[in-house]
Amino acid sequence: MEQLSLFDIKPDISNWQVKIFSADNFTSQIARLELENRLINLTEISDNINRQSVSFQLSKKDQLHRWLKYKEGFSSDLVLNLLNDFKIPKNGLVMDPFLGSGTTAMVCKMNGINSIGFDILPMSRIAIEAKKNVFNYDICELTKIKKELESITCPLNFDKTFHYLSITDGAFPEKTAQEIAFFTEWNDKSNYSKIAKNLITLCILNSLEAVSYTAKDGQYLRWDYRSKKMREANEDRLAKGKHPIVVRLDKGDLLSLKETLCKEFENVINDIIHIQAHSKDTESEITFIEGSALFEIPQISNEILDGVITSPPYCNRYDYTRTYALELNYLNLSKERISQLRQTLLSCTVENKSKLRELEKYYSEIGRKDFFDNTIDIINNNAPLNEIKKSLLERDKNGDINNNGVLRMVDGYFTELTFIYAELYRLCKKGAKVAFVNDNVRYGGEVIPIDFISTELAEQIGFKPLKIITLKQQKGNSSQQMKKFGRVALRKSITIWEK
Ligand SMILES: C[S@@+](CC[C@H](N)C(=O)[O-])C[C@H]1O[C@@H](n2cnc3c(N)ncnc32)[C@H](O)[C@@H]1O
Repeated sequence: MEQLSLFDIKPDISNWQVKIFSADNFTSQIARLELENRLINLTEISDNINRQSVSFQLSKKDQLHRWLKYKEGFSSDLVLNLLNDFKIPKNGLVMDPFLGSGTTAMVCKMNGINSIGFDILPMSRIAIEAKKNVFNYDICELTKIKKELESITCPLNFDKTFHYLSITDGAFPEKTAQEIAFFTEWNDKSNYSKIAKNLITLCILNSLEAVSYTAKDGQYLRWDYRSKKMREANEDRLAKGKHPIVVRLDKGDLLSLKETLCKEFENVINDIIHIQAHSKDTESEITFIEGSALFEIPQISNEILDGVITSPPYCNRYDYTRTYALELNYLNLSKERISQLRQTLLSCTVENKSKLRELEKYYSEIGRKDFFDNTIDIINNNAPLNEIKKSLLERDKNGDINNNGVLRMVDGYFTELTFIYAELYRLCKKGAKVAFVNDNVRYGGEVIPIDFISTELAEQIGFKPLKIITLKQQKGNSSQQMKKFGRVALRKSITIWEK
């Protein structure tokens, strides 16, 4: 008889079931329970995919993928696994509606697959332009730039500086603010090739956080205790008889921009030399469209995709336009433009307003009002979603939700994602597979199983759900939620559907 080793024992899936969706049974949870009972059979606990694969952790060490430090990115390993699993043919076409730093696009390119991607952030454009040209750089030119970079220094009397917006005010030591202006002017005025100049811009962007008094931390930017913002906030607190802010960020000695930039540039050149020497250009195309997936995808023709690999913003209040305020400011976006971008984000912050009327108007104008109406019907008739909306309303009335923008965010999030799912169905060839990486969330004691609800919505659109790969490690809850409602582990999953 075959020996059963410990490692052959499959983990008990019930540990990944939620079972109590509404803390203290405060609201109805029947629809969510029914959904869970039905979809838990499709759920697999993954041994190969871990927390690192669905985060930027692994890419930090990855040539090429580390060029833009994008904490929200997933790993190239994950994309490669999915491409193999999906059996995407050479010269096939894969879409990533939420491209970010371009992991999906670059893994596709390195494996002879064409891709198309969207993002609203200009950093995405700069990153993907830089990466997709990896085989086109002239190493002699890059070496010359590196030498020049090492030899120049911002003069003491340089009279230009970084132009702050109010949200970034005082983010850099004064000398660093001058250096940023100096190296930017040097790059703008240089006669280097367009792709080399873009690469320098990417390296400056990538250096900004390190040389600043800020740190990207979860949902917002944290500020070092020496920054103007923190000093003023503490003076204000003291004047009001309050204690100064206790939890303080101390970034220690900050490097100069020149040091950081030289290092960044050197790393990038080393990657380029290595990749040009050891890999062959597959000549695969990357098409990037800077704009909202919600309004760009509808313009693409039917049945062209062999697969989709993506990770949308999570429904977790994370505001990309605040976390990346320094980078957006550096790229000369005005305060108004940044607010506009915030509203263009797939609804994932409490500030997002509904895009429903805009979508309706848009679909009417392009002569596809039927598609709009059908998609809205699917959203309105989804029982677990309706249960969640009702529960959140009750929780809000009960004072359990600290910002009622959460209700609009959750509603907008599912509405907008359903439009994306429906458009992707139209764009996929028969047999094409779709992977979405996402996290479940919890607000006011109500668990929102994003993976299962999305899978049901996709099913109602026409996709066949294949599996829901969930990570062994689940996510905890915020300290406020834990204190008030106890702990419920939240799944991090990759949902896989087929047309
Ligand atoms: C989780 S990140 C994707 C990271 C990506 N997988 C990577 O490896 O870098 C989600 C991305 O969606 C983008 N995004 C948000 N709203 C969008 C929209 N309406 N259209 C297109 N992209 C959007 C964000 O700017 C962010 O870059």
